[in-house]
Amino acid sequence: MSTPAIVIAALLLVGVSGASTVAAEIDVNIGESIARRNCAACHTVGPTQVHELPPTFFELAQNLATTEASLEFLLTHPHDVMPNLTMGADERAEIIAYIMSLRQRAR
Ligand code: HEC
Repeated sequence: MSTPAIVIAALLLVGVSGASTVAAEIDVNIGESIARRNCAACHTVGPTQVHELPPTFFELAQNLATTEASLEFLLTHPHDVMPNLTMGADERAEIIAYIMSLRQRAR
């Protein structure tokens, strides 16, 4: 019964390493779609002036305390309320690029 588990594990490994080699360039649009998939249940993802809690990604972007480094820290150290998000470095970089792209871009 352990053979299928090994096969699945091998397939997962192939999938993971395959994904990480794709990341030649950080794509803001991919970041947006990852954010909509993983974060929109709690956060307003798109640009909006409305204040909300949890903070909208637009609010986060306007906060001068928000930097790539602070977002990287938050996404690698999920706090109590936020779910434990398992993302690759590429996905984190893409979400971070998307959030930072919202800075000063209200509609
Ligand atoms: C289950 C709900 C939930 C999901 C899903 C979620 N968050 Fe959050 N997030 C929260 C809450 C609630 C807060 C506010 C927590 C607080 O201020 O203590 C928060 C706060 C944050 C903050 C600001 C933290 C701070 O201290 O300023 C960032 C950045 C953030 N989330 C990013 C994300 C990203 C990126 C995703 C998707 C990958 C995500 N969140 C998914 C609930 C969620």
